[in-house]
Amino acid sequence: MTRLLLLASMLASLLSVWAGSAWSQPLLDWSPEEIRTVGQHGPWPPPPVRDPSNRVSGTAAGVALGERLFSEARLSGDGRMSCATCHQAGREWSDGLAKARGSVELDRRTPSLWNIGYLHWFGWDGAGDSLWAQSIRPLLDPREMNGGPTRAAELLRGDATLACGYEKAFGRKPGADDEQLMVDTAKALAAFQATLVSPRAPFDDFRDALVAGDRDVAARYPVAAQRGLKLFIGTANCNLCHLGPRFTSGEFGDIGIPFFVRPGEVDPGRLAGLGRLVVNPFNLLGKYNDDETGNNTRRTRHVQRQHTNFGEFRVPGLRQVGRGGPYMHNGSVPTLEDVVKHYSEVSPDRLHSDGVPLVRPLALTTEQSADLVAFLRSLDAEPPVRPAPPALCP
Ligand code: HEC
Ligand code: HEC
Repeated sequence: MTRLLLLASMLASLLSVWAGSAWSQPLLDWSPEEIRTVGQHGPWPPPPVRDPSNRVSGTAAGVALGERLFSEARLSGDGRMSCATCHQAGREWSDGLAKARGSVELDRRTPSLWNIGYLHWFGWDGAGDSLWAQSIRPLLDPREMNGGPTRAAELLRGDATLACGYEKAFGRKPGADDEQLMVDTAKALAAFQATLVSPRAPFDDFRDALVAGDRDVAARYPVAAQRGLKLFIGTANCNLCHLGPRFTSGEFGDIGIPFFVRPGEVDPGRLAGLGRLVVNPFNLLGKYNDDETGNNTRRTRHVQRQHTNFGEFRVPGLRQVGRGGPYMHNGSVPTLEDVVKHYSEVSPDRLHSDGVPLVRPLALTTEQSADLVAFLRSLDAEPPVRPAPPALCP
């Protein structure tokens, strides 16, 4: 009798395992076309990139110096603020605030730095054309670190460990030219930031299994996320802008986020960013570009300001997105649910640019909205604990 009971209970548990994998968690039908499109959002992680405009990009000594400088408050005017004040490792390299707080509240949100090394335009408005040029901006901005060339230069010359780290990275002792030392500081900071690659997420296991035809592994991906992904690449057209392995084109778009900063003052986005880019002495057309071939100046040479750039902001990558927020360039959308609601209800009249609108109200059902959120959350993963930074110099 006990034997029989045991057998019955074993059978029941077997059945429930089987039901768990095959019934409550089915693999939806994926067409060859859909599988191809899903495949384009990977593989992850991509191979590391080197920035030819930055001589210490991808070098161990450059990265080590940059990591040290990233949390160096002595780079700021009052000695109290570092890059890590706003870009915090424990907060997905952002700060959790709707608007960044420097000496005053800024008009924009601190973006995450995950996967920043793969971009070609930087800042919400694309005013930077290299990661190192973008890293100079907070050093100079009086509302941010307000440090300037002298701060960086005196620090590199005056601190024995940093001077030694500098020599290892750049192959020379810190010289007398303050501006050069500030640019080199930014280049080391950029080398470090380019190593910030987000971890593999549940989506990546699904994507790889789907492409490889491994139905068992693919079926482990929650069915709500599968439905959300189908919407994302299908009727919701999200992947028009959030494309590729990083879920961003790296370009700019207008999704109808209000642009008023305060009554009577607007943030014109890309239109103003282009204006700042062309007059920036640290852009790739300037003397600090280390790429002697000049091949990397093409984008900057060919930019043109057009009225359609008004109200455009850079398309954010979506990896780790559910762990961040609030959302958008001005932090005006609190949660992922609200982001999806925005796309569901956006009024075409809210779009500012006068090009062909890529965004239209999707009128999603409650279930579809939840599915999209479930998909977005499948791009999140707990990042591994960061090892202690290497010693700069013995
Ligand atoms: C006061 C908070 C604050 C500090 C300090 C700060 N940042 Fe930022 N960071 C921001 C904000 C806000 C933006 C968005 C700027 C914009 O688009 O106008 C930004 C943008 C960036 C970007 C571009 C990100 C992207 O997605 O294009 C990089 C790179 C960056 N910061 C690096 C740094 C480095 C390096 C430092 C230290 C030298 C630093 N930041 C210090 C708030 C800060
Ligand atoms: C026209 C291009 C475009 C399309 C289509 C598009 N997005 Fe976006 N998305 C953007 C831009 C641009 C922003 C940033 C806007 C801003 O800050 O003002 C953004 C912001 C976001 C954010 C906030 C990210 C952050 O870090 O603040 C999420 C999440 C998002 N989009 C998801 C989606 C989803 C889901 C869809 C489909 C329903 C979609 N997007 C369709 C361009 C697009």
